[in-house]
Amino acid sequence: MNTATRATAAEDFRRSLEARGKLPALSIVVPTLNERDNVRELVDRLDRSLAGLTWEIVFVDDDSADGTVDILRDLSRADRRVRLLHRIGRRGLASAVVEGVLATSSPVVAVLDSDLQHDEALLPAMLGRLVAADCDVVVASRYMTTGGVGDWTQGRLFVSRVATKLAELLLHSELTDPMSGFFMIKRTAFDQVVRSLSNQGYKILLDILLSAKPALRVEEIPYTFRSRRSGESKLDTTAVIDYLALLLDKMIGHVIPIRFVMFACVGGLGLLVHLSVLASLNRGMGVAFAVANLAAALVAMTFNFFINNLLTYRDMRLRGFWPMLRGLISFSAVCAVGTAANVGIAVVLFKQNYTWWLAGLAGICMGAVWNYTATSIFTWRNVRSLTRASENGEAFAVNSAKRLRRQVQHDQAA
Ligand code: GDD
Ligand code: MN
Repeated sequence: MNTATRATAAEDFRRSLEARGKLPALSIVVPTLNERDNVRELVDRLDRSLAGLTWEIVFVDDDSADGTVDILRDLSRADRRVRLLHRIGRRGLASAVVEGVLATSSPVVAVLDSDLQHDEALLPAMLGRLVAADCDVVVASRYMTTGGVGDWTQGRLFVSRVATKLAELLLHSELTDPMSGFFMIKRTAFDQVVRSLSNQGYKILLDILLSAKPALRVEEIPYTFRSRRSGESKLDTTAVIDYLALLLDKMIGHVIPIRFVMFACVGGLGLLVHLSVLASLNRGMGVAFAVANLAAALVAMTFNFFINNLLTYRDMRLRGFWPMLRGLISFSAVCAVGTAANVGIAVVLFKQNYTWWLAGLAGICMGAVWNYTATSIFTWRNVRSLTRASENGEAFAVNSAKRLRRQVQHDQAA
């Protein structure tokens, strides 16, 4: 069988399953993080809005601490259309959505927030538009004529508008809301781009649109973004950094990793910190140069550790006193080695008659690459916590198996 006939056969098979109601016409992916009081209501509302359609919903939860997982597990036991993907030791809206979509089975997938801010009653109309317009994506837009953003503050409205303008520049398109978190996409279109995604932060739709070559055909439908009923937004100030990192990654990410660019920028800032501490201690307060310089280096290193922990490694941030202290110590140790390498290389090159600035620059590059690589292994890829996460996963699997066995024995006895 050649590829074309195989594809047609697969398509026929899919159609026949769909016709018999065995394959949902629509899959819905919903990322959750601490949404205890919203998920039940969301499933109820979907059940009403999608009456007459076959559908499935995949919740992707990043180990919420508020009991959301238990509720989702109950829901999935009571209703086979509801499924749960429980991720441990992971964070991130974009990657949650991607993994959720990969776990679905129907030809069309909708992405929806779990906090009831997106108008689920719009889904049938979106599906209708996807089919009628024969496009790849239908976006629910807050900025089309009749759409709206509910009770947003002026500040958030402004940031959102600036970000949208920036996205338009990169997208070369007239989309009114490429940052929407509410959209529907054909699975075939998703599969074409999934390997090129940056998977950074929040803006999964923008990531998809920017990664698609050739461009996807997109339609928009207006809606009003509702206010949150319960819980709170997880979007903080680092979402802005996430966003810029995504745009930068799409522009130059294939040449140089964005995390490295950020790490190097923080290093540059550290240099300024070092020089100012040195100047004020030595020049200003008359502290001996060697002592002032050592103090400056320690302050700069500590500064760099905290800024990197806050921004560069925001997705795997170390939290709590001991993890952070351990992080600071390993960071300092790595940087000490990096400085030695930096100086060593520079001296060797200088002795080989390279000009002073070239020798210095080579040393800096060497030190930066070492610091970046080694801290990403020793400081932020906390091997212990990864092991703990996989141990948790294993314990969960073993317990589930035991529970299942008990259930079977019980059923047999009955
Ligand atoms: N699994 C997982 N992991 N889910 C997450 C995470 C995470 O790290 N962070 C947030 N979520 C879930 C929330 O539980 C919620 O269901 C949804 O993602 C959106 O998060 P909110 O914190 O409610 O975001 P928002 O309302 O401030 O932002 C919305 O508007 C943006 C446009 O301005 C979202 O729709 C964004 O996707 C959208 O880009
Ligand atoms: Mn929200």
